[in-house]
Amino acid sequence: MVKVITYGTYDMLHYGHINLLRNARELGDYLIVGVTSDAFDRSRGKLNVRQPLLERVEAVRATGLADEIIVEEYEGQKIEDIQKYGVDIFTVGSDWVGKFDYLNEFCKVVYLPRTEGVSSTEIRKNTNVTVRMGFIGTRNPAQRMIRECEYVMSIEVAGITGGDAEEGKKIAQECGTEYIEDREVFYEKCDSVYIVDRIDSHYDLVMDALRHGKNVMCEGPVFIRRKEAEEAIALAKEKGLVLFDAIKTRFFPAYQHLLLLIESGRIGEVKDIDVTFSQKLAHVDYENLNKFEGSLYDLGGYLFLPIFQMLGTDYKEKQIFTSRKNDFDVLTKGILRYDGAVASFTAGLGVKTEGQLIITGTEGYVYVPAPWWRTDYFEIRYEDLRKTQKYFWSYDGEGFRYELLEFATRIGNPEEVRDQYIGNETVAIAGLLEDFCEGVYHEF
Ligand code: CTP
Repeated sequence: MVKVITYGTYDMLHYGHINLLRNARELGDYLIVGVTSDAFDRSRGKLNVRQPLLERVEAVRATGLADEIIVEEYEGQKIEDIQKYGVDIFTVGSDWVGKFDYLNEFCKVVYLPRTEGVSSTEIRKNTNVTVRMGFIGTRNPAQRMIRECEYVMSIEVAGITGGDAEEGKKIAQECGTEYIEDREVFYEKCDSVYIVDRIDSHYDLVMDALRHGKNVMCEGPVFIRRKEAEEAIALAKEKGLVLFDAIKTRFFPAYQHLLLLIESGRIGEVKDIDVTFSQKLAHVDYENLNKFEGSLYDLGGYLFLPIFQMLGTDYKEKQIFTSRKNDFDVLTKGILRYDGAVASFTAGLGVKTEGQLIITGTEGYVYVPAPWWRTDYFEIRYEDLRKTQKYFWSYDGEGFRYELLEFATRIGNPEEVRDQYIGNETVAIAGLLEDFCEGVYHEF
């Protein structure tokens, strides 16, 4: 029996794919089709795939041409698959000529003629559900976010408003868009907004955008009051809109992989999380900053992400220690006690320390070096140092494009998909900040 293998994304399956699968099948007696996983596509910069893995697999299965379907998850898997399945022929379309010659060492490589005039890219263009994204606020990272939109095909920048008008005009000019003073005119031009402002302005901005029927992506932490978070979430739900807590680390391929490994029990039971984020910016007068620009308000979204994702939001006790200049918290350190686990976090603005993430488990621990919030690398370490496993998952650009894409793909979807990134965690962060705001801390 001659075994043939072929790989592809098979997004929005088209007759080019079907021709390829049919021709591949004719090369032998048994056809294995490798479909790329979502994470693999992202890690190699293919960010415009429309259908999730399961849908793509189902579409390939429905052709009836594959005898077996496997998932391609990482670079270098092809050689392993060829050996594991005893493959005789590897084949792909002629757009790849030469690329896979290195596999000749393991089996025969055949490049089949590609069908002219059709591709997933073309189909995506024609069925483009373009998100017209408006930007409210001029603080960091507004400008970098606008620039990253270029890489996400389904998003079009509609303009910028709010924040500091001078700064806004400058950003608009540099990014080839327009600054729109009038909020109503701005709303007419977009169907979705990205908000970044001082945290105490978020609630009003989010509610206003939702009331205008816009999908909202707001830089986290989004809220400083539990009740406000719940209210905004309820309004988004009622209107069928996306409300998205934007913390870019959440979608970094390495971070997502880390979560999967933790969930699969690779370090046993998680007992402790220790997470730090600090920044010492030049040219900032830390003495005269506003309370709501303080370290926990600014960085809390990142710090609580791994804690709440890995240990949940149901902590039993918290202790927070803070050091201030006027009302501005320069260094805030806290401990959350859970049933059977503990987490500590350190936020610093105006101090500098190692920004690492350490997750302690009963079998081993994860070490993510600084800056962990922009992670592409981590290690899993055990008592026996020789068993250390190193993981590297690169990301493209500034990393914002991953969350932009996630946001865009939630829009117009049913509730389960739409509300995936807002809920308990957002409310829990708001609750923590609310207590902090009201003075539930020890000063040092
Ligand atoms: N293929 C083909 N003819 C086409 C399009 C794709 O033979 N018109 C083949 C590719 O060469 C590959 C397989 O189908 O072997 C899966 O390709 P994939 O990259 O999933 O599809 P594309 O349409 O090329 O997708 P994209 O536009 O995203 O690159």
